[in-house]
Amino acid sequence: MKSKAGKRPLMPADLLAQLEETARGALQDIEESADSEDLATKRTEVLGRGGVLNQALKHLAELPQPERGDVGRRANEVKATLEKAFAARREALETSLLEMQLRQEALDVTLPGRPPVRGRIHPANQTLRQILRIWAEMGFQVYRSREVETDELNFGLLNMPPYHPARDQWDTFYTTNPQVLLRTHTSPGQIHVMRERAPQPIRVVLPGMCYRYEQVTARSEIQFNQVEGLAVGRRITFADLKGTLTAFARRLFGAQVATRFRAAHFPFTEPSAEMDVECFVCGGVGCPVCKGTGWLEVLGSGMVHPTVLNNGGYDPAQFSGFAFGMGPERLTMLKHRIEDIRYFWSNDLRFLEQF
Ligand code: PHE
Repeated sequence: MKSKAGKRPLMPADLLAQLEETARGALQDIEESADSEDLATKRTEVLGRGGVLNQALKHLAELPQPERGDVGRRANEVKATLEKAFAARREALETSLLEMQLRQEALDVTLPGRPPVRGRIHPANQTLRQILRIWAEMGFQVYRSREVETDELNFGLLNMPPYHPARDQWDTFYTTNPQVLLRTHTSPGQIHVMRERAPQPIRVVLPGMCYRYEQVTARSEIQFNQVEGLAVGRRITFADLKGTLTAFARRLFGAQVATRFRAAHFPFTEPSAEMDVECFVCGGVGCPVCKGTGWLEVLGSGMVHPTVLNNGGYDPAQFSGFAFGMGPERLTMLKHRIEDIRYFWSNDLRFLEQF
C-alpha cells in the first residue's frame, strides 16, 4: 500500500456513506426552507460547484475501478433526486406566496369608484355654440377668419381710411409692423369671405376672438368673442335684416321677446341700426339690469355699405346685403346677470363651475 502512514486508505463505503449523509441533510434543508430566496441559497450550497455534494465526491478519482463507477452512478442518482426536490419545493413556495398575495391584495369591488373630474364648456363658448346653432338652422355657414389682420382689412377696406375718426373707437394692439394688428372686430372677415365667394350669394357667420387696447373694467376687456353675420345677394333689403335678426332674437331669448331697432352709425354699414330686446329681467318696466330703460342692447347691424361691397368684389348696383355683429360674453352676462366681464378670462373655477 502506498498510502501515507497513519492515514487509512479511502474506501468506497466511506464515500457512499458521506453521499447518503449529504443527501439526507439536503432533503431536510429543502423541507425547512422558508422562502424561495432561502431555497436558492441552499441550492447553491448543496449543488453548486463548491457545494457539499461536490465536496463529498472530491476523492472519487482516488477510488479504483469498478468501485469508482458504482459510487459515481449513485452520486448521479442522488444529484437527480436533489434537483427534483429543489424544483418541487420551489414550485410549492411560489404557489403559496401567490395565494397569499392574492388573498392580501384582493380588489374590493364593492368599494365605490372615484369619479373622474369632468371638464365643462366655458360659459362664453356655451353661448357661442348656441348662437351658431341658431344661425345654422337659418342657413348660415360658419366661416373662420384670422385674428391677426392688416390695417387695410381691419379698417381701410371697411370704409375707415387712416384719417377716419371712427378708428379711435377701435384702438388695438399692433405688431412690430404697424400695418399688422390684432383685429378689433370680426368685420374684416366680411372682406375675406366676399373676395372668396364673389359673385356667389353669401350667408355666413364669422365667430372668433377680437382684441382692443382698452382699460380693463367691469364692462370692457382687452379680448372678447364676436359673432359676425353677413348676407349678400340680389334684392336683399332692410326688411330682410329686421326679419332675420328678429327671428334670431326669438330663438335665443324666447318666442315672446319684443325687439326694437335704433338708428346707429358704423362706417361699413348704411343705414346702421342697433337691436335691443325687451329686458327679460323686469319685462320692460325698468330695472338696474337695463338701467331703467326696459331694453337691452344685443347687437350692431346695418346694410353693407356700397364701398364695402365694392371692396369685396360685388357690384353695389346689382348686389346688396346686411351685416351684424354681437358679443357672446355680453349676451352671457345678460342671460345670467353677470356683473363683471373680467370673470370670463380670469380663470376662477368658482365662477366657471357655475355654468
Ligand atoms: N364690427 C362692429 C363692432 O365691432 C359690429 C358690427 C358688425 C356692426 C357688422 C355692423 C355690422 O362694433
